[in-house]
Amino acid sequence: MTQAIDWSALERAAIDVRARAYAPFSKYFVGASLLTKSGKIVVGCNVENSTYGATICAERSAVVNMVSQGLEELLACVVASRAPDAATPCGVCRQVLAEFAQRLPIVAIGLDEGGAVVERAMYDLETLLPHAFRLRSPR
Ligand code: THU
Repeated sequence: MTQAIDWSALERAAIDVRARAYAPFSKYFVGASLLTKSGKIVVGCNVENSTYGATICAERSAVVNMVSQGLEELLACVVASRAPDAATPCGVCRQVLAEFAQRLPIVAIGLDEGGAVVERAMYDLETLLPHAFRLRSPR
């Protein structure tokens, strides 16, 4: 069954969780929201670390949250960060997202200093990561 994607609810969720990002080193705050097949919205933010390398991105943080809740199938994703250098998922996050979706529309939004959305672009995971490595058979 196909389900309509409530992009504004997903954007709101990504913007709200971005406020909780722990990014004292880069000061680059990111929030991500995922819509699961069950209709639930799951969120995550970037959590940096003094070692730098142990940092987790918002997108992977959201995926970890999703799996922890017993959910596995992804329908849509929003990533909220700052304009003018709004984030698209990094290479590692692309691969992690690909584990849970065959097709995944991703909206990247950029906020100005007042919190207004001033950039919005839509991508498809297939375009961002063509020929993703997968071991499991397609869903
Ligand atoms: N970051 C994300 O959370 N998601 C992205 O798509 C790009 C980068 C985080 C990692 C790090 O905490 C900060 O942004 C700067 O790279």
